[in-house]
Amino acid sequence: MSATTFFTSVHEQLQYIEQRMREQADGEQHPDLKSALEHLLSAGGKRIRPTLGLLVGNMLGAPEEKLITLGASVELLHTATLVHDDLIDGALLRRGIPTLNARWSPAATVLTGDFLFARAAKLAAETDYLPLMKLFAETLATIVNGELTQMFSARGVIDRDNYYNRIYAKTASLFEMSSLAASMVATEDEDTRAAMKAFGYEVGMAFQIVDDILDFTGDQSTVGKPIGSDLLNGLVTLPAIYYAEAHRCDDDIRSLPEGGWKDTQRVQRLVDAIRLSNATEQALDEAQQAVGRALSALETMPASSEKGALENLAKFIVDRNL
Ligand code: IPE
Ligand code: IPE
Ligand code: MG
Ligand code: MG
Repeated sequence: MSATTFFTSVHEQLQYIEQRMREQADGEQHPDLKSALEHLLSAGGKRIRPTLGLLVGNMLGAPEEKLITLGASVELLHTATLVHDDLIDGALLRRGIPTLNARWSPAATVLTGDFLFARAAKLAAETDYLPLMKLFAETLATIVNGELTQMFSARGVIDRDNYYNRIYAKTASLFEMSSLAASMVATEDEDTRAAMKAFGYEVGMAFQIVDDILDFTGDQSTVGKPIGSDLLNGLVTLPAIYYAEAHRCDDDIRSLPEGGWKDTQRVQRLVDAIRLSNATEQALDEAQQAVGRALSALETMPASSEKGALENLAKFIVDRNL
């Protein structure tokens, strides 16, 4: 089985999810909002979160209709956070095409993100299962609080706990939700739910660590978004933390917490040094360990093709270059 066969195994269900998302752009919306939604939805994306939900739900025998509604909800929530994230980061490229903020005012961008949040919540409600609405709301609160924390108390901070909390909030929480929610519509069994929650958590942590590595080593045309921008924004991610731990006396490192990250030349020098060091490999090793824990969480599940696909999804997370 090749690394990405897990996507093809849910290809048809993913098409239904696309359709469900597109329906959210139908209606009496303002024409500019409609075209913005069209722009966003046709840009694609890996659809990794709904794929995760579908595979978990299929493995546990969840009703397909609920999985599709859930998948559309999770992906729209993700899209909404990206719209706001790119505005906050000033990023001009996403999924290989210009971001909304590259073409539109901040106000219109914020409101389009809000519209997507509203539609995502509506879809979550359409699962007709109150605990899921609660989970959706809690996850959104976690993500928003994470972005705010990153903005106000993470710039230039070289600290592992700060980093892990940050990546849980902004990324792993949504993977965790996707996996847990799919198990919730399938079973009441608490052990199974806990295992799926753990699987989503570990895969999500690994996913963000790899995203942070790709910010140093990736190729912009493959990744489809700007590279090398985290440190320029003052965000000290895992590769930079490993590098800092090995080069405590380095002036460029020492200046970071005092605002040195605002010095573009300094940061560029640091980015190059991190690229040439073994810090990105050390970070990758850590992502691989998280994937190992994800696979252990799956072990208790009976053998099935979906279980095999989930194992491949977990491995893809660390092998990917996009
Ligand atoms: C980007 O997520 C934001 C992060 C959490 C790193 P993805 O890498 O899943 O983006 P798309 O949906 O495939 O564009
Ligand atoms: C984005 O994290 C997480 C959210 C969307 C909340 P990043 O800032 O690392 O994502 P990219 O690299 O812009 O995709
Ligand atoms: Mg960003
Ligand atoms: Mg990133």
